[in-house]
Amino acid sequence: MSTEQTFEPGPDTVRTLRDAFGRFATGVTVVTTQTPDGPAGFTANSFTSLSLDPPLVIWSPAQASSRFALFAGAAYFAIHVLAEEEAHLCNRFIRGGAGFEGLAFDHSPEGIPVLAGTLARFDCTCHATHPGGDHLIVVGRVIRARARSGGPLVFSQGLFGGFTPPDASGTA
Ligand SMILES: Cc1cc2nc3c(=O)[nH]c(=O)nc-3n(C[C@H](O)[C@H](O)[C@H](O)COP(=O)(O)O)c2cc1C
Repeated sequence: MSTEQTFEPGPDTVRTLRDAFGRFATGVTVVTTQTPDGPAGFTANSFTSLSLDPPLVIWSPAQASSRFALFAGAAYFAIHVLAEEEAHLCNRFIRGGAGFEGLAFDHSPEGIPVLAGTLARFDCTCHATHPGGDHLIVVGRVIRARARSGGPLVFSQGLFGGFTPPDASGTA
């Protein structure tokens, strides 16, 4: 989309709709869970916070993903919010990425594989799932949260970057 465009979503505009959705800047997360075959991870930008009381978050795996069943049925999972300098972790957990191979990691008390050093981490139990078109809306109840200072990895229009506040007074 080089110029402004108005269109009705349909079979011929899937790519254009995807590009329009991509105008929304997000952070980047890696969702991890333990499976019978070992630890599994999934790069996701569909994460958002949902509720403070109770503490709930959301993310959405695509039904088309080869790892969909592992994550849709996970009783426990951890959502890692990546820092600006952690794009290498994002790349590990996309299609064809190295995954946990050669990566040092730990386990939460519940047995969730957890990555070191991320900007924030939310350990969750599965609270609910809801249909979401070609995705599944997974609602997690946060049982443990941790966060450190630092800048987030930002994703928009297919590109990764950092976040620079305009000036000190630009903080919310
Ligand atoms: C920045 C970024 C964010 C992504 N977010 C999601 C997401 O929220 N949900 C999703 O299903 N796939 C998302 N993906 C794609 C998945 O990480 C994965 O590559 C894709 O589902 C293919 O998985 P498969 O190899 O298991 O089939 C994202 C990829 C990137 C690079």
